[in-house]
Amino acid sequence: MGVLRDDFIWGAATAAHQIEGGNVGSDFWAVEYSPGGPFAEPSGDACDSYHRYPEDIRLLAEAGLKAYRFSIEWARIEPVQGVFSRAQLLHYRAMIDECHRRGVLPIITLHHFTSPQWFTEGGGFGRPDAAELFAVYVEYVSGILHDVEWIVTINEPNIAALFAAAFTRPAEVDAPISVQMALAGGPDPELAPRLIAMHHAARDVLRARTNAKVGWAIAAQAFMPTPGNEQKWQEVFDQWEGVFYDAADGDDFIGIQSYTSQPVDEHGPVPHPPHPDNTLTGWAYRPDALEINLRRVWELKGIPILVTENGIATDNDRRRIAYVTGAIEGMRAAVAAGVDVRGYCYWSLLDNYEWGSYGPTFGLIAVDREGDFARTPKPSLAWLGKVAMRGGEITG
Ligand code: BGC
Repeated sequence: MGVLRDDFIWGAATAAHQIEGGNVGSDFWAVEYSPGGPFAEPSGDACDSYHRYPEDIRLLAEAGLKAYRFSIEWARIEPVQGVFSRAQLLHYRAMIDECHRRGVLPIITLHHFTSPQWFTEGGGFGRPDAAELFAVYVEYVSGILHDVEWIVTINEPNIAALFAAAFTRPAEVDAPISVQMALAGGPDPELAPRLIAMHHAARDVLRARTNAKVGWAIAAQAFMPTPGNEQKWQEVFDQWEGVFYDAADGDDFIGIQSYTSQPVDEHGPVPHPPHPDNTLTGWAYRPDALEINLRRVWELKGIPILVTENGIATDNDRRRIAYVTGAIEGMRAAVAAGVDVRGYCYWSLLDNYEWGSYGPTFGLIAVDREGDFARTPKPSLAWLGKVAMRGGEITG
């Protein structure tokens, strides 16, 4: 008898904008190609997964993974407000069918950071009709989701609210986006209720029109108070995470996305100091963050948890395996202690567009973006597939 459930879900995750390429109707595309914008490089053709998804799903399935978390791109489905593309809808339905054909469980995200440019131009998450407009899109998409079991409405609303805050600080445009986000002072508290309303509106539609388990996926930061700063920690936690977990009351699951841990001092989250062990995103190497987050969120909410993202940006695949080993061991310890974890998705299946740059490589599979987009699986793909096939046992 293993520690994890017999039906534990092992998968890998991606997001449309980061892998598809040519997401020309989205707000990020508009920012990426605006002169003097905040990004080091634009997304361009990304991994061309818009055309190459059958190969991506095949590689995932052949390695032994059983789930593919991917997102549907609102900007493609509704390129102009009120104008819906049936061809794009059928494209995503074909992806779901391809998953089923390969014995892979599709986990669908309906919003992963990008919105249509028309939505953002009109005020984005802050516009009074944001929830209504999102629900119209979700209703249209629900037509292809009848046999999908897991749906994430919005990916990391807390980071989406942070991106929005960062974009509105033009004085900082020369700083890398990660620095701008740190300077932005956390998720914009005024946007939190708007995002929550979007999530609840989408949940209502999905409950009425599908049989799926519905939840949203929160960026869990494993914040830790420095001595004497428990009060500040609580404020930071509530703003960055707590308000979003509370909005999951009534959901079927909470998605947890965990990468690192950050101390909180009297001023707030302490930026990761430079350290040789830091990852390619500049984050502290903290495989133990996942266990901290799982225990914390379970204690707080008692709602089943799906690890919708966990991973590391590194150019050393042995280090990736070491990081994931530590994270999975922590997850197993949390489950042994009673935390209800339903599955684990590694971020990311492919080396992809890391919101401003192709530098940080999170993938289990490398992509030749300068040539013919050839996929080269890294040893970590087969390794994770074996871990999945052994029900989470790690034997080297
Ligand atoms: C996001 C992904 C991102 C990853 C690594 C999460 O914040 O959902 O889109 O690439 O973390 O930064």
